[in-house]
Amino acid sequence: MSKKPFYITTPIYYPSGNPHIGHCYTTVACDSIARFKRMQGYDVMFLTGTDEHGLKIEQKAAEQGVSPKEYVDVIVEKFKSLWSYMNIDYDRYIRTTDDYHIETVQKIFKALYDKGYIYKGEYSGKYCTPCESFWTESQLDENGCCPECHRPVTFAKEEAYFFKISAFADRIEKLLLDTDYLRPKTRAIELVNNFIKPGLEDLCVSRTTFKWGVPVSFDEGHVVYVWIDALSNYISALGFMNEQYSDFDKYWPANTHMVAKDIMRFHAIIWPAILMALDIPLPKHLAVHGWITFNGEKMSKSLGNVVDPFVLGERYGCDAIRYHILREMALGADSSFSNEIMINRINSDLANGFGNLVSRTVAMADKYFGGTIPSDRQADALDEDFKNVVLGAVSAVEAAMEETKIKQALEEIFKAVDRANKYIDETEPWKLGKDDSQKARLASVLYNLLDGIRIMSALLSPFMPTTMPEVWKQIGAAEADVTYDKLSVFGVLPENVTVCKGAILFPRIDVEKEIEELNSIIQKNMEAAQANLSAEEKGEVPAEKIELAEEISIDDFAKVELRCAKILSAEKVKKSDKLLCLQLDDGMGGRQVVSGIAQYYSPDDLVGKKIQLVANLKPVKLRGVESCGMICASDTPDGVKVIFLDDSIPCGAKIR
Ligand code: MSP
Repeated sequence: MSKKPFYITTPIYYPSGNPHIGHCYTTVACDSIARFKRMQGYDVMFLTGTDEHGLKIEQKAAEQGVSPKEYVDVIVEKFKSLWSYMNIDYDRYIRTTDDYHIETVQKIFKALYDKGYIYKGEYSGKYCTPCESFWTESQLDENGCCPECHRPVTFAKEEAYFFKISAFADRIEKLLLDTDYLRPKTRAIELVNNFIKPGLEDLCVSRTTFKWGVPVSFDEGHVVYVWIDALSNYISALGFMNEQYSDFDKYWPANTHMVAKDIMRFHAIIWPAILMALDIPLPKHLAVHGWITFNGEKMSKSLGNVVDPFVLGERYGCDAIRYHILREMALGADSSFSNEIMINRINSDLANGFGNLVSRTVAMADKYFGGTIPSDRQADALDEDFKNVVLGAVSAVEAAMEETKIKQALEEIFKAVDRANKYIDETEPWKLGKDDSQKARLASVLYNLLDGIRIMSALLSPFMPTTMPEVWKQIGAAEADVTYDKLSVFGVLPENVTVCKGAILFPRIDVEKEIEELNSIIQKNMEAAQANLSAEEKGEVPAEKIELAEEISIDDFAKVELRCAKILSAEKVKKSDKLLCLQLDDGMGGRQVVSGIAQYYSPDDLVGKKIQLVANLKPVKLRGVESCGMICASDTPDGVKVIFLDDSIPCGAKIR
């Protein structure tokens, strides 16, 4: 019987800088799912790759005096070597600079144009230069700035092609609300409310201001703008509209696209719309996870808080790192990476939990039976609960993996590991070993433990694929003993199985010493990152790039009334991640201002501080809350920074 196909993809990564542990999450998660599915007997296609076009790459290459292709070639190799280091077993690697992909993108663009879903128009609207993105009014943030980087946008006008995404709004709303396409479902409601209900606006899909992209085949001077190029990778890599591959019919629709929350919207709205317009089936699931943050802050190269996966892998082994990131991240939520949590997790689960279980069991088999378990056995009622818990883990893991809940799957396996360690405490093999009349009982206990480890290690193998074969060597399991069909029963290891003592699987880590060393590595990274930042990365805009708005007279300026005010209290606006409601002492009896700074400031950072208030702005309602004025702030690469005033300036004082 032919195997059932299973197709899973990661996003394609921007090769604009070295990969970090944040990039590893999706890839390690998809690799684990792919391995689990292969173990279950599926014919798996696991795709990853790099998204190599765009203005940023063009600019970075120019800074280094190399061509964009030369620039990306170097970084793509770094991604590939990281994947090999992390033991990522992908089936196909796509680069958007590959000829066959370019061919597909051009054909898709033309097909959509011929069907009338892409049309030529003129874009005049708000443009964010650093993000290379046009935004509609409704997409701008509360301060009228770019919704992605929160920097000011400028007015721009350009001839461009548009994709009629609005034609699919109803179908996409149904897809998000009535099916389980998007996981977790809570995010679907948020998308519908924020993007579909206010009205989907047609999407700008071509650019004329840079060259490093896929040319529009029928209109020289236009290049295909990011999302049609990037998203099409999922089907070009199967040979859709190209001759390079021929397994589109076999693997499409994809079973799972996995992405982080920042690119969810593109995969939940734009991608389905493109597929609907092409009249091809939609992927079955989009699994969305949060960000890995570092000590509570978003990982970022420019902050230097990036943990180098090669450094961590070298110290603790790649499986420990894989396990840690998978075990910490619940689907949908952010997960905070800290050296301390990582080391404690490795010590408790891997060194003391699973590693110790294997080494104790193997050592006892060696000590009491010279390594080979005798045939004479004696079962006990005590064995049943242990066996049931281990077998129960198999179905629980299967169910969790069906729903892309990797953290939960690992928790289920570790319930069995804990049960096994408890089984050792209950049966006290060291006492049985001292009593000759108990040899048969001891043989049963150790055999059960070894066979239980066989099942647990097979379940762990998709997540920690480097270490588990070593476990199989130690417990005397052959490859045929750890196939998926052998996991639902006990008694698979040979009756007289022989163990083989080996190296410690996960050495215990000296917490204090390691944390000190890792912190000093990170400190050095931070300093180096600061020293290496380009002026632009530091947020300094080169003089020639500063675009001043139209000149105004002093009378015009006098129309804006800036005054000093003190923040008396601040609280989050309900149902908004971004808005804080501030009560101010403005020297005029007080007022309320709503400001989009909740992601950057907590109330404690603000209360008691003096700020610059635009005092004569017309009141507006933001998320139903009245805002009388605006507080002044600046956009920096690290987010929005409020302009604080000297405490000696009285509330209500005019600023000129
Ligand atoms: N090129 C686009 C994706 C196109 S897919 C058709 C892109 N590339 S990216 O390199 O910027 O990011 C790729 C993925 O890595 C995104 O899902 C992004 O959120 C994820 N991550 C980058 N840093 C991360 C963390 N710190 N934590 C978790 N995921 C992170 O977007």
